[in-house]
Amino acid sequence: MLITAALPYANGDLHLGGIRSTYLPADVFARYCRLQGRPVLYVCASDEHGTPIEVNAAKEKMKPDAFVKKYHDRQEKDFQKLGMSFDVFHRTHSEENHVLAKRFYDAAQEKGVLFTKAVEQTYCPKDERFLPDRFVKGTCPFCAAADQYGDGCEKCGKVYSPADLKEPHCALCKTVPTKKTTEHVFFKLSACGPFLYRYLSETNLQSDVVAYVRNWLSGLKDWDITRDGPYFGIPIPGRKDQFFYVWFDAPIGYVAATQAWCTANQKDLADWWNSKNEIVHFIGKDIVYHHYLFWPAMLDTAGFALPTRIPTRGYLNVEGEKMSKSRGTFILVKDVLARFHPDSLRYYLCTITPNTTVDGNFAWADFQAKVNSELIGAYGNFVYRCLSFIVKKGGTIPPLGMKTELDAAFEKELSTFSDVVAKDLDQIGVKEALEKIMAFAAKSNKYFNDRAPWKLTDQSELDTVLHLSAKAVFALALALSPYLPFSSGDVFAQLGVKPKSWADLSPFKAGPTLQDVKPLFARIEDEAVAEEVGKMKKSG
Ligand code: 2FM
Ligand code: ZN
Repeated sequence: MLITAALPYANGDLHLGGIRSTYLPADVFARYCRLQGRPVLYVCASDEHGTPIEVNAAKEKMKPDAFVKKYHDRQEKDFQKLGMSFDVFHRTHSEENHVLAKRFYDAAQEKGVLFTKAVEQTYCPKDERFLPDRFVKGTCPFCAAADQYGDGCEKCGKVYSPADLKEPHCALCKTVPTKKTTEHVFFKLSACGPFLYRYLSETNLQSDVVAYVRNWLSGLKDWDITRDGPYFGIPIPGRKDQFFYVWFDAPIGYVAATQAWCTANQKDLADWWNSKNEIVHFIGKDIVYHHYLFWPAMLDTAGFALPTRIPTRGYLNVEGEKMSKSRGTFILVKDVLARFHPDSLRYYLCTITPNTTVDGNFAWADFQAKVNSELIGAYGNFVYRCLSFIVKKGGTIPPLGMKTELDAAFEKELSTFSDVVAKDLDQIGVKEALEKIMAFAAKSNKYFNDRAPWKLTDQSELDTVLHLSAKAVFALALALSPYLPFSSGDVFAQLGVKPKSWADLSPFKAGPTLQDVKPLFARIEDEAVAEEVGKMKKSG
């Protein structure tokens, strides 16, 4: 199971949108697959080339390579704090990626899918340079959305080249650009229609996405993979002052990251990147075109195995509006983690991320309500009540004793719980599985209340209730461990167990002596939320 998450641009600090759409669902799935005992490699890297990076590096008065290293390191730290369990977090500006980009290019050339063509490029007479993708802004030629970049439209999702823009202007100085001719290398995507049609039909891809990707097949345009220097990227072999367009080398970064891990662990790339494995790319819906069309075509041409699943999630709005820096709704991971428990953020984001491309909404009040009433109210409180009660009774989990009908019914439910959850998680239904887990937490709470162990006088009956309740705590913490790795670790420590796999649920035994039982989370107070909302208003 080779799992990748779309590579974040090394262009700033991580924000919540990418976490929700990509890194978190991928992490939950990777952790779940590991628990199931499947060999898993979860890889990611920073995406370090291209014009926006060059522009922003210049703004920070830094050389691009120092700039991307800086953000690579910062993002890596944020990812760690958020509990992302990457096996490797590599870089597209790496040696491996340079070598592999050449390999993909050579293969494409050998297969005859590359050709050169003279193209007119937008050129800024004032800055005296070609204006690649993001140096040009204008109106989308397809949907007429204003203020779009030259490489594609954020409104309608279509991909095009800067020369196609209507009313173009230089993004640096607003001058109306002129044209200048240069020779570019193209990838003959128009010839890949039959292959892509087959690929989309025969692979178990997300159906809501395939439905609209199919519509693009009849209009496949050849793809310009060249950018004229100056450009921060990988030089095209044999072509003076020309570089691969960042979107050519970025997905190759998945392979490069896998390669880097293999080298460090004395494995072969082919052990992982092969057609017997599942190759699962988690992405956001803004990069569907690249992952459902360009990338499979590139892989096929170069003789690499194709992705078997491409889970695709929607955008994240904040307080009902598109995330925006100027409105103060552009929430950074590090700011949330400076104040709140990482598991509370992971929990909340998972509750608003269904297995579709539907957009989600982050609202502070909703965050507080879900954390306080569900994560703490239903789960954390049950764990604490149950374990602290056992501590009061001597601190050791007793064996099963006599069972009433209620006990037997709850025990039965416990025995099917993990299968019910696994069914959804196998389909990458992260939110769907979480809802089932939380429903079971509510049931466990109810069982504990209904059986009211504090009232029981019969030792054997009491033993049963405490045994089953402790087992429920364990089952919940285990099932939640892909979601809440930090607090599940705390529960395991309190229980004195070290589970390694999903299967450890069945042989749960009496005996462990509880350690250092304390509440898992602190409630989110009204003042904290009011302050966060106030910060948005102030910067907005
Ligand atoms: O859209 C983005 O944020 C890109 N950096 C994603 C790249 S994914 C992969 F293809 F590298
Ligand atoms: Zn200019």
